[in-house]
Order: sequence, then C-alpha cells, then structure tokens
Amino acid sequence: MARILVFTATGQVGSALCDELVSQGHQVAGITRNEAAAGRMIQRGITPIVGDIRNLDQLGPKLGGFDSVFLASSDARDQDKAEMALIECLRAGGLPHMVKLSAQSAGLSPPVSFGIQHRAVEDALKHSGLSYTILRPTFFQQSLLLMSGDVAKSKAITAPMGKGRTAMVDVRDIAAVAARCLIDEGHAGKTYTLTGPAAHGFADVTEKLTHLLGAKVSYSSPPAPLARLVMPILTGMPRWKTSLLVDLMVAIRNGAQEKVTNDVMDVTGDAPRTLDAFLKEHLPSFQP
Ligand SMILES: NC(=O)c1ccc[n+]([C@@H]2O[C@H](COP(=O)([O-])OP(=O)(O)OC[C@H]3O[C@@H](n4cnc5c(N)ncnc54)[C@H](OP(=O)(O)O)[C@@H]3O)[C@@H](O)[C@H]2O)c1
Repeated sequence: MARILVFTATGQVGSALCDELVSQGHQVAGITRNEAAAGRMIQRGITPIVGDIRNLDQLGPKLGGFDSVFLASSDARDQDKAEMALIECLRAGGLPHMVKLSAQSAGLSPPVSFGIQHRAVEDALKHSGLSYTILRPTFFQQSLLLMSGDVAKSKAITAPMGKGRTAMVDVRDIAAVAARCLIDEGHAGKTYTLTGPAAHGFADVTEKLTHLLGAKVSYSSPPAPLARLVMPILTGMPRWKTSLLVDLMVAIRNGAQEKVTNDVMDVTGDAPRTLDAFLKEHLPSFQP
C-alpha cells in the first residue's frame, strides 16, 4: 500500500484519481482549500489536507512523508511559479516520485498557450533531481461540457477551431494512467501524451449531437481576432484565459493536436473512452 498525495483533489482529474487510488487500497491524501469539500473527502476514504498552494508557509509542513505525489493545479497566470514553488517545497520535505499533469500543448515546438507554462514546470521538474513522470493530455472530453449550455439553449457551438481536429481524452483515462504512474515501477523519466482513440473536429461533435438529440446542432468558427473580443463576454472567463484558449484552438485548427497515441492503452491495458460514449453518457447536459 502506497502513501500518495494528490493536488487538485476536488478537480476533474484529481477527484477521479483519488477514487481510483482508494479503490485499489492505497493511502490517499488530497489537498483542498475548502472545509466542506474536506468533509466529503473523508466520506470517500481520502485524508483531506486543507490549505492553499499559494500559502506554502502554512501548507508546506503538511506535505512530507509521501511515496508519490500527483502535481497539478488549475490554470492561472502564475501557474508555473506556483507549481515550481511546490516542487521545491516537496523536494525539501523528502524525495517522492512526482507525476506532473501537463498538457499536450507543452510538447509542441515551440510550446503554445497553456503549454508554455506547463513546459517551464516540466523543465523545472526535470532539473529538480526528483523522480518524475509527465502526463500531457489533449483537450479533455469534459471540456465539451463548457459548451453544453449553448447547445441546450441555442443548438450551437461557436469556437475558432475551423476544421481542426483533436483526439479528446476522458479525464477518467488520464486518472487511470496517473494512478499506474504513481504506484508502479517503470514510469520514471517518461513523458506520456494522452489522447482518446480518434481525432475529432467540432463539426464531428455537432454532427454526433444532432444525431443523438434528434435536432440540428450547428457549428460556427469565427476568425481568431473576433473570438478574442467576444469570448470573455460570452464565457464570463477572464481575458487572459480566453486569450490562451483562442491560441490553443488556433493551434488545433492548424493541426497541432491531431495525433493519436497508444499511451493510455500501453500504461493501463485498457482502451481509452470514445467521444461517442462520452456524449451519450452526458447527453442530459446538452438538452434544454
Ligand atoms: N481542460 C482541458 O481540456 C485540459 C487539457 C489538458 C491539460 N489541462 C490542464 O489540466 C489542469 C487542470 O486540471 P483539472 O481540470 O482536473 O483541474 P480543476 O478541475 O481545474 O481543479 C482545480 C482544483 O484545484 C484546486 N485549487 C485551485 N487553486 C488552488 C489553490 N490555490 N490551492 C489549493 N488548491 C487549489 C481547487 O480545489 P479547491 O477549490 O477544493 O481548493 C480545484 O478543485 C490545468 O493545469 C490544465 O492546463 C486541461
């Protein structure tokens, strides 16, 4: 039984990862800033550690004594600095194996969008002296849920991705890979690019939704400058974040994320979940 520390334990990947590790009988501690979430974690067999990764004076002393650590954080302007400070803090508190949640865009030459900060953290981790594994997932299938409100209300998806395709991956498959890399030997020094089983464009997504919902769902791709102007208003997200999203979608439009890998299957022994299965499972979210 391994002792494992999970950052973003209430997040999309981290939450699925905690459940996976607990089901395999491991001792799992998860970080949250939220006392109520901490209570729910106890009920799921996870030991909560309440703290803020941007307050390491308070959180740092609680982070020692683990065999391996899932290093992740949500997108932020200072994500690279926050994660680098965590690496330094964890290194000082012992020598756990680190599994870093990065992004496929970190592997592009040069890296783009969110991948720029992720690449900086990957490099810091490689030079830290710690044992590490890097996970570079593509676009999460779950990110389609950000558009489910528009589909339910207006039967439309708007994104500057043109005819670009990306091999969207389910966060549960990322979690399954992370679990193996945190527990098993043989993943140190490896970088895995995690994709679904096939690359799809948003025209494919709307075609599949049209079929499943029995009503026409349209897709329009505005030029990037227009998307930069309207996305903060349409999504309510801060401009720095929508700007990075547009950068990512433009890269996808230009073919940056079409590659399909076998890494999920190679690490877990299971085929990654398909987009069709994801859309069927989440269909109520796309309905009015
Ligand atoms: N979305 C995509 O399509 C995609 C694709 C590839 C890579 N990625 C990468 O995946 C990562 C995000 O993963 P995710 O979506 O699983 O995460 P997430 O759902 O955004 O989870 C973030 C969690 O982090 C915790 N958190 C945020 N700020 C914190 C702080 N200051 N201190 C402690 N905890 C904090 C929050 O927990 P509490 O509120 O409980 O404190 C929150 O639940 C990002 O690095 C992103 O670049 C995303």
